[in-house]
Amino acid sequence: MDKIIIEGGKPLKGEVKISGSKNATLPVLAATLLTDETIILRNVPKLVDTNTMIKLLKALGKDIEWDKDKLIIMSSGKISPVADYKMVSTMRGSICVLGPLLTKLGEAKVSLPGGCVIGVRPVDLHIKGIEALGAKVDIEAGYISAKAKRLKGARVYLGGASGPSVLGTANIMMAATLADGETIIECAACEPEIEDLANFLNEMGARIKGQGGPRIVIQGVKKLHGADYKISPDRIEGGTFVLLAAMARSNFLIRDIDYSQLMALDDVLAKVGVQVEADKHCVRVKPARIIKPMSITTYPYPGFPTDLQAQYMALMTMANGVSVIRDTVFPDRFMHIAELNRLGAHIRRESGSAIIEGGKELSGAPVTASDLRASAALVMAGLVAKGKTEIRRVYHLDRGYENIDKKLIALGASIRREKE
Ligand code: UD1
Repeated sequence: MDKIIIEGGKPLKGEVKISGSKNATLPVLAATLLTDETIILRNVPKLVDTNTMIKLLKALGKDIEWDKDKLIIMSSGKISPVADYKMVSTMRGSICVLGPLLTKLGEAKVSLPGGCVIGVRPVDLHIKGIEALGAKVDIEAGYISAKAKRLKGARVYLGGASGPSVLGTANIMMAATLADGETIIECAACEPEIEDLANFLNEMGARIKGQGGPRIVIQGVKKLHGADYKISPDRIEGGTFVLLAAMARSNFLIRDIDYSQLMALDDVLAKVGVQVEADKHCVRVKPARIIKPMSITTYPYPGFPTDLQAQYMALMTMANGVSVIRDTVFPDRFMHIAELNRLGAHIRRESGSAIIEGGKELSGAPVTASDLRASAALVMAGLVAKGKTEIRRVYHLDRGYENIDKKLIALGASIRREKE
């Protein structure tokens, strides 16, 4: 396993290019199961998570190869309906093969993904959705077993206790593309990744309207065909670099970012005194002398993303006062508190909130990454801390940030990788 060693305090300058979106790529890859024709995907980030999905698709029967930066997904003849535990347990996103397998083959057997450090993460909404489309679902021996000769369109409400589900919406939308008649998803997730997926499905011949809003309408079609599609930039990676620039008081250029997808972040940054200059594809953060404290609560899109909560917490350790962070999407997503405190932050947890006393100088220490976005927060803190920070279990980082060390080194950071 690798660890990352950072010498903090180096000025960051130059420019960084944002990669394709991980969370858009995963369901788009799953959607390739809906056709036997060839699919070409561009701007796919080379990450542990995308590689896991590629391995899963290969195990299900697809032939997949890279041609320079293009990913080509071809049919090898027969697709298996079984996604086994070994594959699904390493990445929760694998659950989104359920909808495509079921609607294309009439059956699917997908391992239950299990929990993870950021919370329990149930799949009841996925199951409710496919049942509404007429599937018979059994949970047996740790697997979701679903059957339906042909799914039938229906109106389905997909809101849960914590709001809509992103991958739940993705699964039902994909299942509905080949169902008989019209499906309406109410309380659909509005995340840009759902829009990306719907746009891709429409390129394949699906008939989807309303993506990006809470009501998605899908007219089922008989067959989907091949497509050539470019994945959008990763808004969470983009937001992470914006927060890093704010934290390091650096005005490096962030390229290939769609800042219009980060309105909630922009709103908060304006309040903390950080000005951001953005045009269509580029962003520059103006270094702020004083960072004001500002409390936030995470919500589904277009609210403040839970996937930027840890990184925002890192920024708030530098604010000149107290801020409170609440995560309504994953209320227990606070594993990074203890590790940020090891770097000198003053953060405590009170029931569902993190209370950050900002303004304490951070200093390097050995820390352990607990999950993907928490790792990013630790890297950000390490880059501004005095002295040496050693981050263990960085494989979390490699799940979601393409070439992160190369990108940071190019900005002037002192960061290296070692085997543990
Ligand atoms: C996706 C993202 C993840 C992000 C999350 C929330 C991918 C690969 N992952 O995960 O990075 O943090 O959205 O923006 O795109 N829930 C239920 N029942 C369900 C499903 C979910 O109650 O059947 C709850 C969850 O526990 C959570 C909330 O709904 O409280 C949102 O989860 P969901 O949107 O489903 O997250 P994912 O799609 O798994």
